[in-house]
Amino acid sequence: MDKSETLLSVRDIHTYYGDSYVLQGLSMDVPRGQIVAILGRNGMGKTTLIRSIFGLTPPRQGAVEYQGQSLVGLPPFRIAQIGLALVPQGRRIFKNLSVLENLQLPTSSLAGNQAAQRGARERGGWTLEKVLDEFPQLRDRLQNGGNELSGGEQQMVAIGRALIANPDLVLMDEPSEGLSPRFVLHVGEIMMRMRSLGHTILLVEQNLALALSVANYVHIIASGRFVFSGTPEELKSQPDVLDEHLGVSGAKSLDDIGVHA
Ligand SMILES: Nc1ncnc2c1ncn2[C@@H]1O[C@H](COP(=O)(O)OP(=O)(O)OP(=O)(O)O)[C@@H](O)[C@H]1O
Ligand SMILES: [Mg+2]
Repeated sequence: MDKSETLLSVRDIHTYYGDSYVLQGLSMDVPRGQIVAILGRNGMGKTTLIRSIFGLTPPRQGAVEYQGQSLVGLPPFRIAQIGLALVPQGRRIFKNLSVLENLQLPTSSLAGNQAAQRGARERGGWTLEKVLDEFPQLRDRLQNGGNELSGGEQQMVAIGRALIANPDLVLMDEPSEGLSPRFVLHVGEIMMRMRSLGHTILLVEQNLALALSVANYVHIIASGRFVFSGTPEELKSQPDVLDEHLGVSGAKSLDDIGVHA
């Protein structure tokens, strides 16, 4: 099989919050056009990995390279201009801006930067109209404040805002958190559609069924290190790993939670 192009490469990163040593030497590759999922229990370092990549909490040691360009030390807005977008954990949208203003933020932040605009055009595809087709219930709420939306609607805005930036690589931190089962399925469909449109996704997820149904490759993180890396099939065949690191025991329970081995 051809080795696909590596879009993002993370090499032996070590990330701290003050004296607290969180990521203790992580390495991984995200190939272009794939969905790579990060799983792990609460507090293990999943969000810190996303923050390390996106310039929010840069690693103190190690390398993060996007198409060969180092991201370490770049501020998040520069990283966004290069072609990455973040859907943060906890449906973080601007509560004092309207839905429309939230959705238009990526467009306005690229304004004045010709190269970034051209890049976004070339990556192509998502416009405000298309995003509203995807999430019709936002159409009636465009003038509402971000603080007047339900949790699920805020998540739609956060995902829509990332799409409008037409990113090559989308970092999604628990996009299914707090959503109804029907909308979790919708998020899964959106991710698969994004992949078929050429976007690459790094997905942090607690919903094992969702992660295993969309991901090409999976890493499990425990206390700042990867303790499993492999395909969803390989993970499903290792109930002891699932049990120890995700608290899912036995094939029967896997079936119960909708993962069909
Ligand atoms: N801003 C911060 N300052 C200090 N410590 C932090 C900060 N953010 C997270 N931590 C700590 O770093 C560790 C990893 O946190 P992180 O948010 O990466 O976990 P996570 O895997 O995303 O968890 P969850 O599934 O609950 O979102 C935890 O011990 C957490 O308490
Ligand atoms: Mg987290």
